[in-house]
Amino acid sequence: MGKKDMFKTIEYNGGKVRLIDQTRLPLEEVYVECNDFRDVARAIKSMQIRGAPAIGVAAAMGIALGARGITTNDFPVFYSELLKICEYLANTRPTAVNLFWAIERMKSAADKNRNRDVESLKEILEKEAVKIWQEDISTNRSMGKCGQELIEDGDTILTHCNAGALATGGEYGTALGVIKIAHEEGKRVKVYADETRPFLQGSRLTVWELVKEGIPVRLITDNMAGYFMGKGEIDKVIVGADRIVANGDTANKIGTYTLSILAKEHGIPFYVVAPLSTIDMSIPEGSKIPIEERNPQEVTHLNNKRIAPEGVEVSNPAFDVTPNKYISAIVTEKGIIKPPFLDNIKRLF
Ligand code: MRU
Repeated sequence: MGKKDMFKTIEYNGGKVRLIDQTRLPLEEVYVECNDFRDVARAIKSMQIRGAPAIGVAAAMGIALGARGITTNDFPVFYSELLKICEYLANTRPTAVNLFWAIERMKSAADKNRNRDVESLKEILEKEAVKIWQEDISTNRSMGKCGQELIEDGDTILTHCNAGALATGGEYGTALGVIKIAHEEGKRVKVYADETRPFLQGSRLTVWELVKEGIPVRLITDNMAGYFMGKGEIDKVIVGADRIVANGDTANKIGTYTLSILAKEHGIPFYVVAPLSTIDMSIPEGSKIPIEERNPQEVTHLNNKRIAPEGVEVSNPAFDVTPNKYISAIVTEKGIIKPPFLDNIKRLF
């Protein structure tokens, strides 16, 4: 079965957005249908769809759906309604910059075509959303190919969270894209997947994706990473990113920072794989990245069952920031960026 037919992370069809419900995986493979932008916003917020590039694609499709529902022939009225829809979608999750990148692209598609009639504008916005989606899929393939010079036959790779097809427009993904292409090219790679508390993207999603692909994977809990590094079982760490800033500091799923220090201590290369749409040149360094704080219930409960005493104080930051000094290289669709990141990222832009 080709990657396209295994499952669809998200699709835009006949004025509807259809996405695989990631909160139900791996036990149930069910799809949800979003009929308007509010449904899409709800799906992003509740993490039925998640992962930086995937929420960018979803927001673009949500804007296209929202535009269809605006009833006016007057551009200024249309545009001001469109901006409200963009704002609504922007208020879903704060950390992944791909969301804001995609929203800006949709706004600018409308603005550039302001002299067209509103009905054509709606079509232009649908086409732009589909383009953002298709570009994301092909970008992932390019990144996966670019990353091959870092992967050797027989590598055991540790990954965190889910940076696969489910976190993007589909098919390859970012960090998992590099691993999937290595596997396609006949390199005997093996993956250690962190379960990724508290939302379990590793055990529920990464393992599900890799098992479907037939790539050898071993599930470990997050706190086992140091143990396996110490035993010499990990050759590389490869993760995705939610926002990389101008100096290379990188926000990714909570726990990534810890892994990066462990990797450094053990002399293991630590690679970040992300498209240019994840790089935010407007922020100079990592401490300025907004970090999403999520519902404490994700920590106090497992499968809706309480696992901590009632009333306990809880923190639930969804992301942390890995300082550039712990990153060996950043793989993008335009090539591999090596330190010094400040200069080399600037050069790429
Ligand atoms: O909270 P999530 O599941 O949206 O967080 C996702 C991650 O942290 C991923 O590692 C990141 O978005 C890279 S996805 C290709």
